[in-house]
Amino acid sequence: MLPDVARAWEHLQRVAQDLFARYGYEPVYTPLFEHTEVFTRGIGEATDIVSKEMYTFEDKAGRSITLRPEGTASVVRAALEHNLTANGAQAKLYYSGPMFRYERPQKGRMRQFWQIGIEVLGAAEPTADAEVITVLWRYFEALGIPAENMRLLLNSMGDEACRPAYRDGIAAFIRSHGSELCEECNRRADTNPLRAFDCKNPACRAVMATAPLLREELCGDCAAHYTAVKAHLDALGIPYEEDSSLVRGLDYYTRTVFEIQVEAGLGSQNAIGGGGRYDRLMEAYDGPPTPGLGFALGFERTLLAMQAAGVEIPAPPRAEVFVARVDDSVTAEVFALAQRLRDAGIAAELDHQARSLKSQFKQADRLGARFVVVLGPDELAAGEVTLRDMSSKEEKRVALDAAPAAVAAALG
Ligand code: HAM
Repeated sequence: MLPDVARAWEHLQRVAQDLFARYGYEPVYTPLFEHTEVFTRGIGEATDIVSKEMYTFEDKAGRSITLRPEGTASVVRAALEHNLTANGAQAKLYYSGPMFRYERPQKGRMRQFWQIGIEVLGAAEPTADAEVITVLWRYFEALGIPAENMRLLLNSMGDEACRPAYRDGIAAFIRSHGSELCEECNRRADTNPLRAFDCKNPACRAVMATAPLLREELCGDCAAHYTAVKAHLDALGIPYEEDSSLVRGLDYYTRTVFEIQVEAGLGSQNAIGGGGRYDRLMEAYDGPPTPGLGFALGFERTLLAMQAAGVEIPAPPRAEVFVARVDDSVTAEVFALAQRLRDAGIAAELDHQARSLKSQFKQADRLGARFVVVLGPDELAAGEVTLRDMSSKEEKRVALDAAPAAVAAALG
C-alpha cells in the first residue's frame, strides 16, 4: 500500500475509532495466525472458508497453524482464554487488520484483505443487535457513502430449537429438486444445505426462491427476538430489507444476520460489510454459553464504494510551510528554524538535496505549503526572515526569533 492508499486506510481507521468509541467499544489485537482448530471449530468444517480458503501450514514443531481468515473466532477464543465475560460481564471490542483467504482474486476480492470489526460478548438483548447494525450503517454514512447507494439486508437464521428441522427440510427440498440444481448444491444437501440459498447460479437461485422460508418457521423465542430487532431499527429510522436468502458464509450464526451491499460495479463482491449473532460460538471452544454478535467490513470494498460515490478522501498538505535557504552559508540556521516551527506544532519542510532557491519554491508548491520562509545572508544579518504567501505572492519581513509565532498567526 503506497501513500495514496495508505492515507485512505488511515482515514477509514480514524473514522471507525471515533465512531466506535462513542458506543463504548475498546480495541483488541489478535495474532495474525492461530492454531488451525480455532478456525475449524468456530467457523465450521463445511464452510467454504474452512474447506477451501484457509492458508494452513505446519510450523517447525509440526503444529498446524492458519493465517486468520476473519477476526470473530480469534476474539471469542481470546475472550474465553482471558475470562473477559466471566460472571456475566459484557465485553465490547473492536479490531482491524489484514485477513487471509485463498479465494480467486478479482475486483474487491483479495487473498490478503483488510477488515475492521466489532464484537459484543455477553449481550443477549435485541437492542444489542440493533446497536451493532446501526454502528455499521452509521460508519458507512460517516465515510460519505450516500444511504441510497446502500442496501441493508436482514434475516434470522433461527437457533438450535428451530434450525435443525428447517435444515432437514431444505436438504429434502434440494434432493427433490436435484436435477434442476448444480452439482455443488446437490452436495450441499449433505454438508450445509442452507448454503444453497447463496449459490450464484441463476437456475439454482430460481429454484431456491421457491423453498420454504426459515423466517416463517422460527420458534417463538427467535420470532420474538427478530420482531424486536426490527422494531428497534424502525425506531431509529435505519432502513433495512428483509432477505430470506441471506445465510452468510460462516456456520457460527444464530438468529440475526445482516449485510450491507452496494452497487459499485463490484459484481458478486458487493457486500461491504456484514455480521450477525453467534450465541453458541463460545461453547465451540468448550466455554460457557455466552451470547455474542458483531460485524466486519472490508476496507478494499468500502474504498471502491466511496470512489463510486465520488467521495474525496481528505489529504492534508505534506507541509504547511517550507523553509528555503538562499545559500549554504545559512544551512544551520534554516535547519534550526525548521525544527522550531515543527516544535511549535507546524508542519514544516526544508530541502535536503541542495536544490537551487527556484527549485525549493517548486518543491514547496508540490508539497502544498501555504507559506515559504526564506532565509539568506541578508536576512540573517538583519535578524529577520522573509515570509512569502504562496497564493497572494505577498512578502513581508519578520524577526527570526518571532518567526514561529508569525507563521502560526499567518496560518490562522
Ligand atoms: P464476512 O462476511 O466473511 O464476515 O466478511 C466481512 C467483510 O469482509 C465482507 O463484507 C467484505 O467486505 C470483506 N471481505 C471478505 N472476504 C474478502 C476478500 N477475499 N477480499 C476483500 N474483502 C473481503 C466475517 O468475516 C465475520 N467475521 C463478520 C462477523 C463479525 N460476524 C460476526 N462478527
